[in-house]
Amino acid sequence: MKEDGNKTKEQLIREMDELRAWKRKQEALEERRKKIDETVQKAFDDLEILTGERTAILQKANEKLMREIQERERVEEALRESETQLRLLSSQLFNAQEKERQRLSKELHDQLGHDLVLLKSRLRAIERKLPREQTTLHGDFDETSRYVEQIIENVRRIAADLSPSILEDLGLFASLRWLVENFSKQHAINVNLDMDDVDHYFSQETRVNLFRVFQETLTNISKHARATSVSIVVKRKKDVVSFHVTDDGRGFNPGRSPVRDPALKGMGLAAMKERVHLSGGTLEVRTRPGKGTSIRFDIPTAIPRGGGK
Ligand SMILES: Nc1ncnc2c1ncn2[C@@H]1O[C@H](COP(=O)(O)OP(=O)(O)O)[C@@H](O)[C@H]1O
Ligand SMILES: [Mg+2]
Repeated sequence: MKEDGNKTKEQLIREMDELRAWKRKQEALEERRKKIDETVQKAFDDLEILTGERTAILQKANEKLMREIQERERVEEALRESETQLRLLSSQLFNAQEKERQRLSKELHDQLGHDLVLLKSRLRAIERKLPREQTTLHGDFDETSRYVEQIIENVRRIAADLSPSILEDLGLFASLRWLVENFSKQHAINVNLDMDDVDHYFSQETRVNLFRVFQETLTNISKHARATSVSIVVKRKKDVVSFHVTDDGRGFNPGRSPVRDPALKGMGLAAMKERVHLSGGTLEVRTRPGKGTSIRFDIPTAIPRGGGK
């Protein structure tokens, strides 16, 4: 540097060079910044595309899910509807069956029963005309008479089983007693009966259902259980009447019952479940081979709480 403060030519050239180098550096920096900007922009674009694609996929999955939910709701609704239809149908079927049984029972009792009584009295009338000394023939007549009496008794029993007029005349309590006594006598099985008088708590339809459920339960015990004793408990609780029938017989494998496997032909248990269901309850069967069988269900009372006795 000169003393007067003016820069020398060399100094100026050096500064110019420095300025040029600085400018190049700036340009290179600017270039890099641009590249970075482009890369960032591309990354943003890619991200946008990716997000768009993801959103589309998610939207599709969502739409599929919605369709599936709607389809499921539709199927559930259809199922509920067909279940209601089925309930209605089984109720109508039971009613029709009950009417048919009533008709058959009446025909058996009034027609066949009546004819048999007539036959018996005719036999007696003919016998009276026989000379006393015809002892063998008298003996034959007596035997035939007893046979006819037995047939009359059987017809009465079948007619009563088909449609127990006692259910209408004396109610559920008396009918169940009658059923149990007959069962105990007929099969020489000891029955322990502990039953509240629950007659007034049920509609006529439910009474018929309950009677039929008991009838099938006892029939099953006599047919399958080989039991020596049976316990029946019928108790009024708060809003329900609880029914419990236990036998000490050979039990069975409930997994193979016709309720689960329609290929097995018995329909008794299935009909029992349906009748209990129609009466507002659920029937539970507890059994194991060799361990007896226990059938339990609660039926809601038709009388509101606080009503009845
Ligand atoms: N109390 C019972 N003890 C032993 N086995 C039983 C009893 N109740 C039902 N079962 C079994 O369950 C099956 C189904 O009974 P059910 O539906 O009434 O049909 P079915 O009496 O016509 O065979 C019977 O075949 C029998 O094997
Ligand atoms: Mg049966």
